[in-house]
Amino acid sequence: MAEVTLRNVKKQFGDTAVIKGVDLDVSDGEFCVFVGPSGCGKSTLLRMIAGLEEISSGELKIGGQDMTMVAPADRGVAMVFQSYALYPHMTVEQNIGFGLRMTGHSKDEIAKRTKVATEMLQLDALLKRKPSQLSGGQRQRVAIGRAIVRQPKVFLFDEPLSNLDAALRVQMRIEIGKLHQDLKATMIYVTHDQVEAMTMADKIVVLHAGVIEQVGSPLELYHRPNNLFVAGFIGSPKMNFIKATASPSDEGKIAVTLPGGGLLSLNGGGAKLAANTPVTLGVRPEHLLIGAKGDASLPAKVRLAEYLGSESMFYASLADGSDISVKADGLAKAAAGSGLAIGVPAAACHLFDASGQAIVNGDLTK
Ligand SMILES: Nc1ncnc2c1ncn2[C@@H]1O[C@H](COP(=O)(O)OP(=O)(O)OP(=O)(O)O)[C@@H](O)[C@H]1O
Ligand SMILES: [Mg+2]
Repeated sequence: MAEVTLRNVKKQFGDTAVIKGVDLDVSDGEFCVFVGPSGCGKSTLLRMIAGLEEISSGELKIGGQDMTMVAPADRGVAMVFQSYALYPHMTVEQNIGFGLRMTGHSKDEIAKRTKVATEMLQLDALLKRKPSQLSGGQRQRVAIGRAIVRQPKVFLFDEPLSNLDAALRVQMRIEIGKLHQDLKATMIYVTHDQVEAMTMADKIVVLHAGVIEQVGSPLELYHRPNNLFVAGFIGSPKMNFIKATASPSDEGKIAVTLPGGGLLSLNGGGAKLAANTPVTLGVRPEHLLIGAKGDASLPAKVRLAEYLGSESMFYASLADGSDISVKADGLAKAAAGSGLAIGVPAAACHLFDASGQAIVNGDLTK
Protein backbone atom coordinates (compact mmCIF):
# COMPACT_ATOMS: atom_id res chain seq x y z
CA MET A 1 0.00 0.00 0.00
CA ALA A 2 1.34 3.40 -0.91
CA GLU A 3 -1.09 6.07 0.05
CA VAL A 4 0.45 9.51 0.50
CA THR A 5 -0.72 11.70 3.36
CA LEU A 6 0.23 15.27 4.14
CA ARG A 7 -0.73 16.97 7.39
CA ASN A 8 -0.29 20.71 7.82
CA VAL A 9 2.77 20.63 5.56
CA LYS A 10 4.58 23.95 5.23
CA LYS A 11 7.58 25.23 3.34
CA GLN A 12 9.49 28.45 3.88
CA PHE A 13 12.28 29.71 1.69
CA GLY A 14 13.93 32.21 4.06
CA ASP A 15 11.12 34.57 5.09
CA THR A 16 8.83 33.56 2.27
CA ALA A 17 6.10 31.02 2.98
CA VAL A 18 5.59 29.04 -0.22
CA ILE A 19 3.46 26.14 1.06
CA LYS A 20 1.17 27.37 3.81
CA GLY A 21 -0.27 24.31 5.51
CA VAL A 22 -1.39 21.57 3.14
CA ASP A 23 -3.58 18.63 4.19
CA LEU A 24 -4.01 15.99 1.52
CA ASP A 25 -4.78 12.28 1.20
CA VAL A 26 -3.82 10.46 -1.99
CA SER A 27 -5.10 6.88 -1.91
CA ASP A 28 -3.15 3.83 -2.97
CA GLY A 29 -3.30 3.50 -6.75
CA GLU A 30 -4.92 6.89 -7.24
CA PHE A 31 -4.01 9.27 -10.08
CA CYS A 32 -3.83 12.68 -8.42
CA VAL A 33 -3.20 15.84 -10.44
CA PHE A 34 -1.91 19.15 -9.02
CA VAL A 35 -2.98 22.25 -10.96
CA GLY A 36 -2.64 25.94 -10.24
CA PRO A 37 -1.11 29.11 -11.65
CA SER A 38 2.64 29.46 -12.15
CA GLY A 39 4.45 29.95 -8.85
CA CYS A 40 1.65 28.54 -6.63
CA GLY A 41 3.90 25.81 -5.24
CA LYS A 42 3.09 22.68 -7.30
CA SER A 43 6.71 21.70 -7.97
CA THR A 44 7.76 22.55 -4.43
CA LEU A 45 5.07 20.30 -2.98
CA LEU A 46 6.02 17.46 -5.34
CA ARG A 47 9.70 17.87 -4.52
CA MET A 48 8.88 17.74 -0.81
CA ILE A 49 7.11 14.41 -1.35
CA ALA A 50 10.13 13.18 -3.32
CA GLY A 51 12.49 14.29 -0.56
CA LEU A 52 14.34 16.71 -2.83
CA GLU A 53 13.13 19.63 -0.74
CA GLU A 54 13.04 19.64 3.04
CA ILE A 55 9.70 20.06 4.80
CA SER A 56 9.74 23.13 7.09
CA SER A 57 6.99 21.72 9.30
CA GLY A 58 4.15 19.21 9.20
CA GLU A 59 3.95 15.51 8.52
CA LEU A 60 4.42 13.46 5.36
CA LYS A 61 3.66 9.73 5.25
CA ILE A 62 4.02 7.30 2.35
CA GLY A 63 2.44 3.90 2.85
CA GLY A 64 1.78 4.82 6.45
CA GLN A 65 5.45 5.46 7.18
CA ASP A 66 6.74 8.84 8.33
CA MET A 67 9.11 10.15 5.64
CA THR A 68 10.61 13.17 7.39
CA MET A 69 13.99 11.56 8.01
CA VAL A 70 13.98 9.15 5.03
CA ALA A 71 16.39 9.83 2.15
CA PRO A 72 14.88 10.34 -1.34
CA ALA A 73 16.28 7.05 -2.63
CA ASP A 74 14.61 5.12 0.21
CA ARG A 75 11.12 6.59 -0.11
CA GLY A 76 9.90 4.24 -2.82
CA VAL A 77 9.20 7.17 -5.14
CA ALA A 78 10.46 7.99 -8.63
CA MET A 79 10.18 11.40 -10.24
CA VAL A 80 9.91 12.32 -13.91
CA PHE A 81 10.74 15.91 -14.82
CA GLN A 82 9.79 18.22 -17.68
CA SER A 83 13.43 18.29 -18.80
CA TYR A 84 14.24 14.66 -19.41
CA ALA A 85 17.72 14.89 -17.80
CA LEU A 86 19.09 11.89 -19.72
CA TYR A 87 22.81 11.16 -19.86
CA PRO A 88 23.83 12.15 -23.41
CA HIS A 89 26.75 9.69 -23.66
CA MET A 90 24.66 6.66 -22.65
CA THR A 91 22.34 4.61 -24.82
CA VAL A 92 18.63 4.26 -24.10
CA GLU A 93 19.30 0.93 -22.42
CA GLN A 94 22.11 2.32 -20.25
CA ASN A 95 20.05 5.38 -19.31
CA ILE A 96 17.15 3.21 -18.19
CA GLY A 97 19.34 0.82 -16.21
CA PHE A 98 21.61 3.46 -14.67
CA GLY A 99 19.73 3.92 -11.40
CA LEU A 100 19.60 0.16 -10.84
CA ARG A 101 23.34 -0.20 -11.51
CA MET A 102 23.98 2.46 -8.88
CA THR A 103 21.89 0.58 -6.33
CA GLY A 104 23.83 -2.62 -7.01
CA HIS A 105 21.16 -4.69 -8.80
CA SER A 106 22.40 -7.72 -10.73
CA LYS A 107 22.88 -7.61 -14.49
CA ASP A 108 20.09 -10.16 -14.98
CA GLU A 109 17.66 -8.21 -12.85
CA ILE A 110 18.48 -4.97 -14.68
CA ALA A 111 18.04 -6.67 -18.06
CA LYS A 112 14.72 -8.19 -16.99
CA ARG A 113 13.26 -4.96 -15.66
CA THR A 114 14.57 -2.95 -18.64
CA LYS A 115 12.88 -5.39 -21.04
CA VAL A 116 9.52 -5.06 -19.29
CA ALA A 117 9.74 -1.26 -19.25
CA THR A 118 10.94 -0.83 -22.83
CA GLU A 119 8.23 -3.15 -24.16
CA MET A 120 5.60 -1.26 -22.22
CA LEU A 121 6.89 2.03 -23.64
CA GLN A 122 7.59 0.70 -27.14
CA LEU A 123 11.25 1.55 -26.89
CA ASP A 124 12.55 -1.95 -27.73
CA ALA A 125 13.75 -0.95 -31.20
CA LEU A 126 15.69 2.04 -29.86
CA LEU A 127 17.78 0.46 -27.10
CA LYS A 128 21.16 1.18 -28.70
CA ARG A 129 20.45 4.80 -29.58
CA LYS A 130 21.79 7.84 -27.74
CA PRO A 131 19.36 10.57 -26.55
CA SER A 132 20.47 12.91 -29.37
CA GLN A 133 19.12 10.35 -31.85
CA LEU A 134 15.64 10.38 -30.33
CA SER A 135 12.56 12.58 -30.74
CA GLY A 136 11.25 14.56 -27.77
CA GLY A 137 8.49 12.01 -27.13
CA GLN A 138 10.95 9.12 -27.25
CA ARG A 139 13.27 10.91 -24.81
CA GLN A 140 10.41 11.49 -22.42
CA ARG A 141 9.54 7.79 -22.66
CA VAL A 142 13.12 6.91 -21.71
CA ALA A 143 12.78 9.18 -18.67
CA ILE A 144 9.56 7.38 -17.73
CA GLY A 145 11.30 4.02 -18.34
CA ARG A 146 14.00 5.01 -15.91
CA ALA A 147 11.29 5.59 -13.29
CA ILE A 148 9.44 2.33 -14.07
CA VAL A 149 12.46 0.03 -13.62
CA ARG A 150 12.89 1.29 -10.08
CA GLN A 151 9.45 -0.20 -9.34
CA PRO A 152 8.44 2.72 -7.15
CA LYS A 153 5.31 2.70 -5.06
CA VAL A 154 4.65 6.30 -6.04
CA PHE A 155 5.36 8.03 -9.35
CA LEU A 156 5.80 11.79 -9.28
CA PHE A 157 5.51 13.66 -12.58
CA ASP A 158 6.35 17.36 -12.92
CA GLU A 159 4.86 18.61 -16.20
CA PRO A 160 6.37 15.69 -18.11
CA LEU A 161 4.70 16.54 -21.42
CA SER A 162 5.07 20.29 -21.66
CA ASN A 163 8.06 20.15 -24.03
CA LEU A 164 6.15 18.05 -26.55
CA ASP A 165 4.04 19.19 -29.48
CA ALA A 166 0.26 18.91 -29.33
CA ALA A 167 -0.12 15.58 -31.15
CA LEU A 168 2.61 13.90 -29.12
CA ARG A 169 1.13 15.21 -25.88
CA VAL A 170 -2.14 13.48 -26.70
CA GLN A 171 -0.33 10.22 -27.49
CA MET A 172 1.83 10.35 -24.33
CA ARG A 173 -1.17 11.29 -22.23
CA ILE A 174 -2.90 8.12 -23.34
CA GLU A 175 0.28 6.10 -22.74
CA ILE A 176 0.68 7.41 -19.19
CA GLY A 177 -2.99 6.61 -18.59
CA LYS A 178 -2.39 3.02 -19.76
CA LEU A 179 0.75 2.81 -17.66
CA HIS A 180 -1.29 3.78 -14.62
CA GLN A 181 -3.83 1.05 -15.39
CA ASP A 182 -1.11 -1.57 -15.89
CA LEU A 183 1.07 -0.69 -12.90
CA LYS A 184 -1.74 0.32 -10.54
CA ALA A 185 0.79 2.55 -8.78
CA THR A 186 -0.02 5.77 -6.99
CA MET A 187 0.73 8.70 -9.30
CA ILE A 188 0.96 12.41 -8.55
CA TYR A 189 1.11 14.54 -11.66
CA VAL A 190 1.65 18.27 -12.05
CA THR A 191 0.33 19.95 -15.16
CA HIS A 192 -0.74 23.29 -16.62
CA ASP A 193 -2.88 21.53 -19.18
CA GLN A 194 -6.63 21.51 -18.48
CA VAL A 195 -7.27 18.57 -20.76
CA GLU A 196 -4.55 16.47 -19.11
CA ALA A 197 -5.93 17.28 -15.68
CA MET A 198 -9.55 16.55 -16.62
CA THR A 199 -8.85 13.34 -18.54
CA MET A 200 -6.13 11.71 -16.42
CA ALA A 201 -7.09 12.54 -12.85
CA ASP A 202 -9.08 10.53 -10.38
CA LYS A 203 -8.60 13.52 -8.13
CA ILE A 204 -7.56 17.09 -8.90
CA VAL A 205 -5.94 19.36 -6.31
CA VAL A 206 -6.26 23.06 -7.12
CA LEU A 207 -3.42 25.03 -5.53
CA HIS A 208 -3.26 28.81 -5.24
CA ALA A 209 -0.49 30.76 -3.51
CA GLY A 210 0.59 27.79 -1.40
CA VAL A 211 -2.84 26.67 -0.20
CA ILE A 212 -5.31 24.10 -1.50
CA GLU A 213 -8.44 25.81 -2.82
CA GLN A 214 -10.34 22.58 -3.52
CA VAL A 215 -9.84 18.85 -3.97
CA GLY A 216 -12.28 16.79 -6.02
CA SER A 217 -12.93 14.66 -9.06
CA PRO A 218 -12.64 16.52 -12.38
CA LEU A 219 -16.42 16.76 -12.77
CA GLU A 220 -16.96 17.86 -9.16
CA LEU A 221 -14.58 20.75 -9.73
CA TYR A 222 -16.19 21.60 -13.06
CA HIS A 223 -19.78 21.52 -11.79
CA ARG A 224 -19.40 22.43 -8.13
CA PRO A 225 -16.50 24.85 -7.64
CA ASN A 226 -16.25 26.09 -4.03
CA ASN A 227 -15.20 29.56 -4.98
CA LEU A 228 -14.46 32.04 -7.76
CA PHE A 229 -10.84 30.95 -8.02
CA VAL A 230 -11.62 27.31 -8.77
CA ALA A 231 -14.54 28.30 -11.00
CA GLY A 232 -12.23 30.50 -13.07
CA PHE A 233 -9.34 28.07 -13.10
CA ILE A 234 -11.10 24.84 -14.08
CA GLY A 235 -12.68 24.83 -17.53
CA SER A 236 -11.56 26.18 -20.85
CA PRO A 237 -12.73 28.59 -22.20
CA LYS A 238 -13.01 30.20 -18.79
CA MET A 239 -16.29 30.65 -16.91
CA ASN A 240 -17.93 34.07 -17.44
CA PHE A 241 -18.26 36.20 -14.31
CA ILE A 242 -21.09 38.73 -14.47
CA LYS A 243 -21.74 41.43 -11.85
CA ALA A 244 -25.33 41.19 -10.64
CA THR A 245 -27.53 41.77 -7.60
CA ALA A 246 -29.49 39.09 -5.81
CA SER A 247 -32.53 39.17 -3.53
CA PRO A 248 -34.43 36.41 -1.77
CA SER A 249 -37.75 35.53 -3.41
CA ASP A 250 -40.54 32.97 -2.96
CA GLU A 251 -39.98 29.37 -1.91
CA GLY A 252 -36.27 29.65 -1.25
CA LYS A 253 -35.52 31.02 -4.70
CA ILE A 254 -33.09 33.80 -5.44
CA ALA A 255 -34.00 36.57 -7.88
CA VAL A 256 -30.94 37.81 -9.76
CA THR A 257 -30.98 41.10 -11.66
CA LEU A 258 -28.67 40.93 -14.67
CA PRO A 259 -26.89 43.69 -16.60
CA GLY A 260 -29.47 45.05 -19.05
CA GLY A 261 -32.33 44.47 -16.57
CA GLY A 262 -33.09 40.77 -17.16
CA LEU A 263 -34.41 38.79 -14.19
CA LEU A 264 -33.26 35.26 -13.43
CA SER A 265 -34.75 32.99 -10.80
CA LEU A 266 -32.33 30.46 -9.28
CA ASN A 267 -32.83 27.66 -6.78
CA GLY A 268 -31.28 29.15 -3.65
CA GLY A 269 -30.02 25.96 -2.03
CA GLY A 270 -30.81 27.38 1.41
CA ALA A 271 -28.64 30.47 1.04
CA LYS A 272 -29.66 33.43 3.24
CA LEU A 273 -29.33 36.72 1.41
CA ALA A 274 -30.22 40.33 2.20
CA ALA A 275 -32.16 42.19 -0.51
CA ASN A 276 -30.02 43.58 -3.35
CA THR A 277 -26.84 41.79 -2.36
CA PRO A 278 -24.02 42.33 -4.86
CA VAL A 279 -23.04 38.93 -6.29
CA THR A 280 -21.10 37.44 -9.17
CA LEU A 281 -23.07 35.22 -11.52
CA GLY A 282 -20.89 32.52 -13.05
CA VAL A 283 -21.88 30.75 -16.24
CA ARG A 284 -19.68 28.78 -18.61
CA PRO A 285 -19.44 29.84 -22.29
CA GLU A 286 -20.63 26.38 -23.38
CA HIS A 287 -23.82 26.69 -21.31
CA LEU A 288 -24.99 30.01 -22.75
CA LEU A 289 -27.46 30.04 -25.61
CA ILE A 290 -27.78 32.19 -28.69
CA GLY A 291 -31.15 33.93 -29.18
CA ALA A 292 -34.25 34.26 -27.03
CA LYS A 293 -33.85 30.95 -25.21
CA GLY A 294 -33.11 29.88 -21.65
CA ASP A 295 -34.59 31.41 -18.50
CA ALA A 296 -33.38 34.99 -18.90
CA SER A 297 -31.78 37.11 -21.57
CA LEU A 298 -28.61 39.19 -21.63
CA PRO A 299 -28.53 41.88 -24.32
CA ALA A 300 -25.02 42.06 -25.79
CA LYS A 301 -23.04 43.46 -28.68
CA VAL A 302 -20.70 41.14 -30.59
CA ARG A 303 -17.07 42.29 -30.70
CA LEU A 304 -15.47 39.27 -32.33
CA ALA A 305 -16.64 36.00 -33.83
CA GLU A 306 -14.41 32.95 -34.31
CA TYR A 307 -15.64 30.12 -36.51
CA LEU A 308 -13.74 26.93 -35.69
CA GLY A 309 -15.89 24.55 -37.69
CA SER A 310 -16.83 22.31 -34.77
CA GLU A 311 -17.92 25.34 -32.75
CA SER A 312 -18.33 29.11 -32.98
CA MET A 313 -16.98 31.45 -30.28
CA PHE A 314 -18.52 34.86 -29.77
CA TYR A 315 -16.86 37.55 -27.67
CA ALA A 316 -19.35 40.24 -26.75
CA SER A 317 -19.97 43.22 -24.42
CA LEU A 318 -22.86 43.36 -21.96
CA ALA A 319 -24.98 46.40 -21.07
CA ASP A 320 -22.59 47.28 -18.20
CA GLY A 321 -19.61 47.18 -20.58
CA SER A 322 -18.22 43.90 -19.22
CA ASP A 323 -17.07 41.06 -21.45
CA ILE A 324 -18.78 37.75 -22.07
CA SER A 325 -17.89 34.79 -24.23
CA VAL A 326 -20.30 32.29 -25.71
CA LYS A 327 -19.44 28.93 -27.21
CA ALA A 328 -22.09 27.92 -29.70
CA ASP A 329 -22.47 25.22 -32.29
CA GLY A 330 -20.34 25.47 -35.40
CA LEU A 331 -23.18 26.72 -37.59
CA ALA A 332 -24.13 29.67 -35.35
CA LYS A 333 -23.44 33.06 -36.91
CA ALA A 334 -23.34 36.59 -35.49
CA ALA A 335 -21.41 39.41 -37.11
CA ALA A 336 -19.04 41.67 -35.18
CA GLY A 337 -20.83 44.93 -34.32
CA SER A 338 -24.29 43.38 -34.32
CA GLY A 339 -26.61 43.03 -31.33
CA LEU A 340 -27.02 39.58 -29.81
CA ALA A 341 -29.47 38.18 -27.29
CA ILE A 342 -27.73 35.67 -25.04
CA GLY A 343 -29.95 33.12 -23.31
CA VAL A 344 -29.07 32.11 -19.74
CA PRO A 345 -30.22 28.70 -18.48
CA ALA A 346 -30.81 28.89 -14.72
CA ALA A 347 -29.71 25.28 -14.13
CA ALA A 348 -26.18 26.06 -15.35
CA CYS A 349 -25.68 29.18 -13.20
CA HIS A 350 -23.36 29.63 -10.24
CA LEU A 351 -23.59 32.45 -7.74
CA PHE A 352 -20.69 33.77 -5.66
CA ASP A 353 -20.90 36.16 -2.72
CA ALA A 354 -18.74 39.26 -2.28
CA SER A 355 -15.96 37.18 -0.71
CA GLY A 356 -15.95 34.83 -3.72
CA GLN A 357 -17.52 31.81 -1.99
CA ALA A 358 -20.07 29.82 -3.98
CA ILE A 359 -23.68 30.26 -2.78
CA VAL A 360 -25.31 28.37 -5.65
CA ASN A 361 -23.78 25.76 -7.97
CA GLY A 362 -26.56 25.14 -10.47
CA ASP A 363 -28.72 22.05 -10.90
CA LEU A 364 -26.92 20.24 -13.71
CA THR A 365 -25.56 17.48 -11.50
CA LYS A 366 -28.39 17.22 -9.00
N1 LIG B 1 14.84 27.48 -3.83
C1 LIG B 1 13.98 28.48 -3.74
N2 LIG B 1 14.24 29.60 -3.05
C2 LIG B 1 13.33 30.59 -2.94
N3 LIG B 1 12.11 30.57 -3.51
C3 LIG B 1 11.78 29.49 -4.22
C4 LIG B 1 12.68 28.38 -4.40
N4 LIG B 1 12.06 27.45 -5.15
C5 LIG B 1 10.85 27.95 -5.44
N5 LIG B 1 10.67 29.17 -4.88
C6 LIG B 1 9.46 30.01 -4.97
O1 LIG B 1 8.39 29.24 -4.50
C7 LIG B 1 7.20 29.53 -5.24
C8 LIG B 1 6.63 28.23 -5.75
O2 LIG B 1 7.49 27.69 -6.73
P1 LIG B 1 7.16 26.36 -7.52
O3 LIG B 1 8.32 26.04 -8.39
O4 LIG B 1 6.73 25.33 -6.55
O5 LIG B 1 5.91 26.82 -8.39
P2 LIG B 1 5.07 26.01 -9.48
O6 LIG B 1 3.65 26.02 -8.98
O7 LIG B 1 5.69 24.71 -9.74
O8 LIG B 1 5.16 26.98 -10.74
P3 LIG B 1 5.32 26.64 -12.31
O9 LIG B 1 3.93 26.31 -12.75
O10 LIG B 1 5.80 27.92 -12.88
O11 LIG B 1 6.28 25.49 -12.45
C9 LIG B 1 7.61 30.49 -6.31
O12 LIG B 1 7.22 31.78 -5.92
C10 LIG B 1 9.10 30.37 -6.38
O13 LIG B 1 9.69 31.58 -6.78
MG1 LIG C 1 6.68 23.90 -11.41
